[in-house]
Amino acid sequence: MHTISPSFIREILSAAATDGVLSLAGGLPREDLFPTTAFADAVATAVAREGHRILQYAETPGDLRLREWIARRMTSTHGMPTSAEQVMITTGSQQALDLVAKLFSDRPVAVENPGYLGAAMAFAANRVETVPVDRIGDALDRIDTAALVRAIDGGAAVFYGMSRFQNPTGASWSAEGRRQLVELLETRGVWFVEDDPYGELRFDADAEADADADAADADAADADAATSARIDRGLHTPVAADAPDRTIYCGSFSKSVAPSLRLGFVRAPVEIVRELGRLKQAADLHSSGILQAALVTMLTSGPFDLDQHLRRVRAAYRVQRDALHRAVATHLPDATVGVEPAGGMFLWIDLPESTSALFERAIARGVAFVPGVHFRADGGDTGMRLNFSCLDPAQIETAVARIAAAREDAAP
Ligand SMILES: Cc1ncc(COP(=O)(O)O)c(C=O)c1O
Repeated sequence: MHTISPSFIREILSAAATDGVLSLAGGLPREDLFPTTAFADAVATAVAREGHRILQYAETPGDLRLREWIARRMTSTHGMPTSAEQVMITTGSQQALDLVAKLFSDRPVAVENPGYLGAAMAFAANRVETVPVDRIGDALDRIDTAALVRAIDGGAAVFYGMSRFQNPTGASWSAEGRRQLVELLETRGVWFVEDDPYGELRFDADAEADADADAADADAADADAATSARIDRGLHTPVAADAPDRTIYCGSFSKSVAPSLRLGFVRAPVEIVRELGRLKQAADLHSSGILQAALVTMLTSGPFDLDQHLRRVRAAYRVQRDALHRAVATHLPDATVGVEPAGGMFLWIDLPESTSALFERAIARGVAFVPGVHFRADGGDTGMRLNFSCLDPAQIETAVARIAAAREDAAP
């Protein structure tokens, strides 16, 4: 994998935090959408109900009530029958990636390219050799299975990737992409580590609900309708739903509720959950008990309603995504937008020139983005990741106009 420069990450973060810089670089959820009041009430309720015990050490796999809640949601919303035994709470899904890296540290791990920086960091920190496997297709909607087969032949026992609303490209796998991977997992007996923190942020879902109903009613013999229904299933469900015995699914409350909870989870076959539990015990004994108790209280005791909350978040992000699309079309007409993200927080664009060379000039113009080279194993330098979850539409428009101005600064 491309070596990640911590100094570059520091540079982005400090540049993005500078007064007057509009940041399309980060990956933070929008703060004014956090359920702050509902969470404060849930903390008070949980403390009142549980008393001193809420501050005591707790069990490594996590609060049983929260694990049961997750198992129910996996079963109902994600199409993946799950028991609480198959769920372990982690300190953010980032910890799940770290534990997976530890569990499989004796073999190379195949990782999608481009891919999530934090996964690359987890593998590198655990000295795990990674083998890049490209996402391919115009919409990056599948992986290069021939490359994955080569990685498996070379000893990889695990493939890491994101099936929905990928960080950094926003891409999701098509029905065919999912089918190819599931077949490989089953025939070659490898594990898929499915990282799905954005799965609940399918902000086209509400608008498409009617279309879904129409597709379901369509003539079953109509191949197009059948295909789109399957692709749709792809966006509704993780790959883990199709290959539950070969997938280690990593979920998170960071994007659906709030990142400072540092609560995520793995859903996997029981024997893998046990192994990961052993590693977690060595790492931190357990994730915060009081935060787990408060979260499950908020999720189950009302008046907070997660689905209603998610509808608000999706509606806001959808407007911001559309604003980013419009701004790119207006100010960067020569940009290639390969993927129309149906969820998540990111849009990936390609420009004809080096985007890492553009970065400094963009900062001077008051805008930050992440040059694509930092996500790519092959050193390709023409892409950039643009985040749309943090800024409002007017700020997004200004930010993209500044990128265009920075490109002009370079013109001879
Ligand atoms: C793809 C991906 N995986 C995992 C994480 C880690 O999330 P957390 O540890 O907050 O659950 C992130 C955070 O941005 C992410 O983008």
